[in-house]
Amino acid sequence: MPEQKIIIDTDPGQDDAVAILLALASPDEIEVLGITAVAGNVPLTLTERNARMVCELAGRTDIRVFAGCDRPLGRALVTAEHVHGKSGLYGPTLPEPTMPLQEQHGVDFIVDTLRREPAGSVTLCPLGPLTNIATAMQQAPDIIPRIRQIVLMGGAYFQVGNITPAAEFNIHVDPQAAAIVFGAGAPLVVMPLDVTHKALVTAARNDAFRALGTPVGIAVAQMTEFFERFDKEKYGSEGAPLHDPCVTAWLIRPELFSGRRVNVEIETESELTMGMTVADWWGVTKRAPNALFMGDIDADGFFALLTERLARL
Ligand code: RIB
Ligand code: CA
Repeated sequence: MPEQKIIIDTDPGQDDAVAILLALASPDEIEVLGITAVAGNVPLTLTERNARMVCELAGRTDIRVFAGCDRPLGRALVTAEHVHGKSGLYGPTLPEPTMPLQEQHGVDFIVDTLRREPAGSVTLCPLGPLTNIATAMQQAPDIIPRIRQIVLMGGAYFQVGNITPAAEFNIHVDPQAAAIVFGAGAPLVVMPLDVTHKALVTAARNDAFRALGTPVGIAVAQMTEFFERFDKEKYGSEGAPLHDPCVTAWLIRPELFSGRRVNVEIETESELTMGMTVADWWGVTKRAPNALFMGDIDADGFFALLTERLARL
């Protein structure tokens, strides 16, 4: 019986794709109840297409993929083609998806699933802007106490911003949604840039993906080779930071990560710092902790897990 029943909310995105593949390669630990796409790295019509392409790459056409919100709650959509390419999934050449997109709206799927499944049994794994999650909470506040936990990629403290000097992309795209989710009271585990910037796909790690010799291994090597350019140019880093797979890896081996329960508030007023995650890492306020905010990762252990699991697909 899998340990975790999850909904992946995502804006693929090469790193989202690797996070989805890791989840689908781990059926003993994770049951994916469905995948809801959100506008983020690229528009919704592409994120839902990319999510279906990744499921087909994994041979999992049984997975239900839903389209959610096509724009943030209160701001114009900001996308990241400069990082992920125009399609959002540059790198490998993958066939157009043939598996169907579900008719139901992704937000309604999230609400219905949380109402149907036993309370406290479903984990939400947002890998993009939090628009779908916040909309579900606003539409159906009764689902909030039924959420087991929310394990998300987003925000930063020591690493500050990657899309502005102050803000990480997922939170910056929809800060109003982030404020709703971080203020909802559901158990929150946050994978910020502070930890994902330590999960770099070095040449050796990329070679290990390619050496799997499988369509999945080769495609992942091509994805991470493509999307490393942005971070290499900006940070001079040794390779692509695998942001989103930190979420699914935590579900499988939480001991690979370490962090601190702190208060995290979201900037939603100032354009200068819009979407900044103000993490009270040093406890200088009396604000109650609302998140387990990760700060460190066993990167070698993470890549060993990831490579071993991808080899299964
Ligand atoms: O800032 C990194 C995050 O923004 C990742 O989730 C990436 O996929 C993009 O959505
Ligand atoms: Ca993402």
